[in-house]
Amino acid sequence: MPKKIYIRTFGCQMNFRDSEFVKGLLLDEGFEEAGSFDTADIILFNTCSVRKHAEERVYANIWNLKGMKKKRPHLVIGVIGCMAQAKIDEIFDDVPIVDFTCGPDNEPEIPQLIKKILKDRANIAALDMIGRTRKELFPSHRESAFKAYVSISYGCDNFCSYCIVPYVRGRERWRRPKDIIQEVKGLIGRGYKEITLLGQNVNSYRGYGSKGDDFVKLLEEINNIEGDFWIRFITSHPKDASERLFKAMGSLGKVCEHLHLPLQSGSDRILKLMNRGYRSKDYISLAESYRKYVPDGSLTTDIIVGFPTESENDFCHTVRMLKGLEFDSSYIFKYSPRPYTKAASLKDDVPEKVKAERNNILLEIQNKLSREANEKSIGTVQEILIDGVNPKIASGLTGRTRTNRIVLIDGEGSLVGKFIRVKFKDATCSTLRGTAL
Ligand code: 5AD
Ligand code: SF4
Repeated sequence: MPKKIYIRTFGCQMNFRDSEFVKGLLLDEGFEEAGSFDTADIILFNTCSVRKHAEERVYANIWNLKGMKKKRPHLVIGVIGCMAQAKIDEIFDDVPIVDFTCGPDNEPEIPQLIKKILKDRANIAALDMIGRTRKELFPSHRESAFKAYVSISYGCDNFCSYCIVPYVRGRERWRRPKDIIQEVKGLIGRGYKEITLLGQNVNSYRGYGSKGDDFVKLLEEINNIEGDFWIRFITSHPKDASERLFKAMGSLGKVCEHLHLPLQSGSDRILKLMNRGYRSKDYISLAESYRKYVPDGSLTTDIIVGFPTESENDFCHTVRMLKGLEFDSSYIFKYSPRPYTKAASLKDDVPEKVKAERNNILLEIQNKLSREANEKSIGTVQEILIDGVNPKIASGLTGRTRTNRIVLIDGEGSLVGKFIRVKFKDATCSTLRGTAL
């Protein structure tokens, strides 16, 4: 039986984690890992549909396999994840070389789907299980031996008007605290050094069943687990982030001093149209509170430019917020209308050229802010986690500070997965350079 699988993952950390589940399922069923597309019998694309550009990249990648599929007609190509769910069966019309599609919550069926395709060569779409599976109950593979993503919730209930996520990943479901704790304890017992808690909106975690800050309670419980490890979390939502969370971040020793808090826009009018549930002044108060309790912490954000009706004046508010809040880094996106969403019914009336200009203006401001923020670390000594080898330099390593800044240093490959202390000497807008002490 053809057995070799290769998975290419696009998009966010949830997809990365899902690919680990799918790989775990397949390895458990006797499939083997292929080193590349060329040696694979089964190729899976785990896809993202958050912006149209993400989908176009997936299509381009699949089309690149056309020649290979012609030469090896028994090659199985599957499209899994958010784009599979979003496009229902359009994918078979758009790229007929695809054999099957499978939405995020149907992924436990993948081994059976592949076996069926290998037997019957039929096209299959497995798409409608949203919210009914508990992926953590299935065997899982982990790509790293020292960094792990741990899901605390699935789906999202916020329905930001531009966002497809609630439609492709379903309503918000929380894992039970005791299951999360058990998973984290298992990882720490196996030597993991960094645990990143994952959820579309971690701050709305209600796994303990109380109305208050259940996420803070979860952080406290995980912080109490014995061991030498760091705790990170993504993503926070301003409408649910609280002073209590920032106090906890400032006082719980294992919780890293980094907050990713998507702003999306600095204009109250646009925030309202986006259905974000806060105003710019609420965000500013949160940022001030965070900086009070976590004084050397980093603050990063997401911003969308060119949302329908965004005027020059709205954009100026965003510029002002970006400059005033001095983010350590920002992801800036051009608005892209998405199917099913409320904003898709609004005219996408900001011309592409204007979106590109606004994008570039924000990038330029952010690069300057990021450089200044990184320069503040020069001369300091900090603990970092070495997370890989630098592909560009022989005997070069990469690492991260607790504040999630990228570090480049020289050192032996045996340091990967270890904490070391580094003195910083140099900074760019994206990296810090230093020497190990
Ligand atoms: N267009 C552009 N950016 C989007 N995002 C989500 N949906 C869209 C969209 N339709 C961005 C938001 C979110 C990040 C993950 O992707 O900024 O925080
Ligand atoms: Fe999308 Fe908003 Fe949910 Fe984030 S919080 S996944 S932007 S709907």
